Amino acid sequence: MKRIIIITGASSGMGAEFARQVYTQHKNTTTQTEMWLIAREDDKLRDFATTLTGKNILVRTFAFDLRGSVGAEHVNNLLNTESKNGKFVVDLLINNAGFGTYGPFAETDPAREMSMVELNCTALTGICGFVLPYMQRGGHIINVASLAAFLPLGNFAVYAATKSYVLSFSMALAAELKERGISVCALCPGSVSTNFANVASNGKRREVLHGRDPRKVVAHCLRASQRNKKIALWATKWKVTAFLSRFVGRYIGARFTYLFNKRPH
Ligand SMILES: NC(=O)c1ccc[n+]([C@@H]2O[C@H](COP(=O)([O-])OP(=O)(O)OC[C@H]3O[C@@H](n4cnc5c(N)ncnc54)[C@H](OP(=O)(O)O)[C@@H]3O)[C@@H](O)[C@H]2O)c1
Repeated sequence: MKRIIIITGASSGMGAEFARQVYTQHKNTTTQTEMWLIAREDDKLRDFATTLTGKNILVRTFAFDLRGSVGAEHVNNLLNTESKNGKFVVDLLINNAGFGTYGPFAETDPAREMSMVELNCTALTGICGFVLPYMQRGGHIINVASLAAFLPLGNFAVYAATKSYVLSFSMALAAELKERGISVCALCPGSVSTNFANVASNGKRREVLHGRDPRKVVAHCLRASQRNKKIALWATKWKVTAFLSRFVGRYIGARFTYLFNKRPH
C-alpha cells in the first residue's frame, strides 16, 4: 500500500531538515512513497523540493496557510482527495510549522498572538485528528513543541503557553494511541539555528542566540521517534533545564524571565 509522509513548515529551518533526513532514510525504499511538504511560500518550497533528488520517492509541495481550522481542513481535503485515488497510509506526520513572538504581551500585536495560537495549537490539533484515520500500527507522529513548554515565560508568554499545550496534548495522545501501536513524540528543543528569532523579533534579531545545529536536533528526534520515545530532548543543557523546571514555581519562572530575559520586539 502507498505510504505518505507529511511534514509541515518544511520550507526552512527544522522542517526542511526533517524533510532532508527523512528523504535520505527512505530514498532506496521499494514501497511506493510520497512526501508531502507544506508551508506558505510556494517558490521556496518548490526550490527546496528540487534538492531532494532520487527516483523512489515522489515529493509533493503544497503551499497554503496552515493557521486555524481552515488550515487543518485544507489538509483534510488533501487526504480525502487522495483517498479517492486508492488506498494509502500516513506513515509519519511531522507537525513542525510554528512561530513565536518576542516581547511583553501588552506590547505585542494581539492579532499576531492569536495567529500563533491558530498555527501552533489549532492547526496542529486538527491535523492530528484528520490524519489519524489514515494511520496504522507502526506509524509515528512528531509534534514540535519547545523547551519553552516546561515553564511559563515572561516576554514569550503566548509562545510558551502554545508549546505547553503541544507537550500536554502529545503526551495524552501518546497514552491513548499506545494500543494502536502509533507513537507520538514531542520534540522540545532549546535554541536552534533557524529563521525563528528573525520572525519572532520582527527582524530585530537575525540569529537565534546560542543556536544549536538543526541537523543534530532533527537526527536525534527521528531516532527518538523510531524508538517510541515520548519526548525528544537532545542537548544535556536542555535535559537539565527541563528537569529543574519541575522545582521552579510557575509564577517565579515567568517573573524571572520577564525581568532578566528581555527579547527584542
Ligand atoms: N529555532 C528554535 O530555536 C526553536 C526552538 C524550539 C522550538 N522551535 C519550533 O520549531 C518549529 C520550526 O521552527 P524553525 O525554528 O525551524 O523556524 P523557521 O525557520 O522560521 O521555520 C518555520 C516554518 O514554518 C512555516 N510556517 C510558518 N507559518 C506558517 C503558516 N501560517 N502556514 C504554514 N506554514 C507556516 C514556515 O514557512 P513559510 O513561512 O513559507 O510558511 C517555515 O517553513 C516551530 O514549531 C518552532 O516553534 C524552534
